[in-house]
Amino acid sequence: MKKHLIAPAFLALASGIGSTSVSAANLTLYCSAQEEWCQLMARGFEDATGVDVAMTRKSSGETFAQVKAEEANPKGDVWWGGTGDPHLQAAEEDLTEPYVSPMREQLHPWSIAQAESAGDKTIGIYSGALGYGYNTDLLAAEGLPEPACWKDLLKPEFKGHVQMANPNSSGTAYTTLATMAQLFGEDEGFEYMKGLHANINQYTKSGSAPIKAAGLGETTIGIVFMHDAVAQAVAGFPVKVVAPCEGTGYEIGSMSIIKGARNIDEAKQFYDWALSAEAQNLALQVDAFQVPSNMSAETSDKAPDLSSIKLIDYDFKTYGSSDTRKRLLEKWDNEVSVLPQ
Ligand code: F6P
Repeated sequence: MKKHLIAPAFLALASGIGSTSVSAANLTLYCSAQEEWCQLMARGFEDATGVDVAMTRKSSGETFAQVKAEEANPKGDVWWGGTGDPHLQAAEEDLTEPYVSPMREQLHPWSIAQAESAGDKTIGIYSGALGYGYNTDLLAAEGLPEPACWKDLLKPEFKGHVQMANPNSSGTAYTTLATMAQLFGEDEGFEYMKGLHANINQYTKSGSAPIKAAGLGETTIGIVFMHDAVAQAVAGFPVKVVAPCEGTGYEIGSMSIIKGARNIDEAKQFYDWALSAEAQNLALQVDAFQVPSNMSAETSDKAPDLSSIKLIDYDFKTYGSSDTRKRLLEKWDNEVSVLPQ
């Protein structure tokens, strides 16, 4: 047995491949934030600790489905980023591991509240408000009115001009569905989603894709987290960011350790590091404009100011519960997505 372990290490050294590639510890990271930030977090942790990271980026709902499918044979160690609702559902379905990090005292109360509501099986790492953005050039070229409210997006003149993600795969789009149910009541919220469906040109897999498409002029309006719309404007695209007049929902982007993680020590090491101000400040390097959960981490001055946005009192307990999330998604599949456009 020992021979088998020693042989590859020796071969690696002899052939000039760095010995760390054989002897280093590993971490499998499932990431649901934006790709560039996921990459930087993986590389940043490798640099800080020497632990090799294998990272894959998938949307929040997709990652939840993967963690659920791998329940009997977990392959991931940490799920970092993505909206809080599916992390809460994973906690409820016992797919994630409780952990109380020594870093917790450095965090905002909203981050800790997320942990406490889930038996310490998840924690908040950033927050951000839902909204939308539009391509100002396209809007002017089409002679369309400037939208300012959620209800503006139902106007017949916006037919074919609005894009959002599919709420099954995307946490952003599930947040949109749950926001409408809370803002208008469930019945009216579903009527809203049906009206919106008539104007949607495409449901994407990933939550931020619609605003990237708007930046490129492939759609006029994209329903996204406002920080993702700001990122397009900062990148130089003609995108205007809207905080809808009726008020809006928000996310507590979260992190969880996967139950049965093969590399549990490295998972906890990553978790503690990811809660540090130093790690959270990496966001600034990739124009990630979420609000960080570490009280000493910097928030970009370009980040949407959550205190000036009319936020609903988003009920994470209800909308992150297994029953409600499953039920709303099924209802959207059966009553909204099947309607003609
Ligand atoms: O692009 C970043 C981001 O908006 C995060 O703030 C959020 O948690 C995540 O994407 C959601 O992505 P998706 O909608 O693809 O699950």
